[in-house]
This record gives sequence, structure tokens and C-alpha cells, in this order.
Amino acid sequence: MKKQIYTFLTGFILTAGLFGIVPNVTATTTVEVYKSPTCGCCAKWVDHMRDHGFTVITKDVGNKEIRKKVGMSETLGSCHTALVNGYVMEGHIPAPDIIRFLKEKPDALGLAVPDMPHGSPGMEGSRVDPYNVLKVNNPGDTRRDAVIYNRYDPYAKKAMPQAPVAAPDSNAGGASSIMRLNN
Ligand code: CU
Ligand code: CU
Repeated sequence: MKKQIYTFLTGFILTAGLFGIVPNVTATTTVEVYKSPTCGCCAKWVDHMRDHGFTVITKDVGNKEIRKKVGMSETLGSCHTALVNGYVMEGHIPAPDIIRFLKEKPDALGLAVPDMPHGSPGMEGSRVDPYNVLKVNNPGDTRRDAVIYNRYDPYAKKAMPQAPVAAPDSNAGGASSIMRLNN
């Protein structure tokens, strides 16, 4: 009984801790977004960031100039460029990736989702394509220099039922060896 209460308390403290930490990372974090005044998908991405607790300041002056100034290569370019905590965030990056990145504080220029992939935050619609969030290490790095920070693949789940195909074999092997032991 004592152990159960202890387990419950530990779970409660851990849960409270998690909920306490996440808002702290974003609540005071201001993101400056350089975008076109007429871009609907930019505005939707701004909403997505606000939904995740970021304070967003928008600069409706386009993003080509700022992108060049901060050293985000045109080869990684998208429709908007955001500045946060000294990092550059190019394009329709999912907010959870930005939150993780800001917690990790890597020595890097920032993140980029080049172009405007269908299905990324702000680009929701009937079509959903796979895309990668890229980590850009240094100013001037091109798309080829960037490394994959996170992958989004809408087809990965559909492919998953294939994965357990190998599992029954090993399970059967395990079960039969246990049976042999019993014999
Ligand atoms: Cu866009
Ligand atoms: Cu945009």
C-alpha cells in the first residue's frame, strides 16, 4: 500500500514536472517572423507557433533580405524566415522541433524545411507529403551540407504492419525453446 502511494506520488510529480517545463520553454520565447503580407500559409504557421505558446512578432517585409543577411542559404529557402533565441528557423518547421532545438541549444545556425511541403504546419490540405526538418550547422551551408533533424513520413505508419512480420518468427523461436526447456 505504501509502495502504491509512493508510485502514485512519483508519477504525479513527474507529470507535474513535464507540464511545468514545457510552457516555460515557450511562454517567454519571442519569435520574429519575416514574411510576405499576403502569404496565407505564413499566417497559418504563425498561428501554429502561437498555439504552441510562442510570442510571435511578424514583419511583413518578405524574407529574402533577412535570409541573406543571417546566412540561411537560398537552397534551403522557404516562404518565411524566423529568428528566435539567436537561431534562424526557415520555413514550415513544426513547433515541437523548434522547442526541442531550443532546449538542446546546439552550436548551429538553425533549422530549415525547404520549399513548402504539403502537410507541414501551415500547409495543411488534402495532400500530405513526406518531408524532413534539416539542421543547418553554419551560415552559408547549402541544402547538401544540412543534416536531417527530424523526418515526417505519412506513409511510414502504413508501412509499419510489415515490421512485425519478422517478430512472430522470433517469438515462435522463443516459445519453442521455452517448451523444450520444460520438457
Ligand atoms: Cu508557406
Ligand atoms: Cu510562410
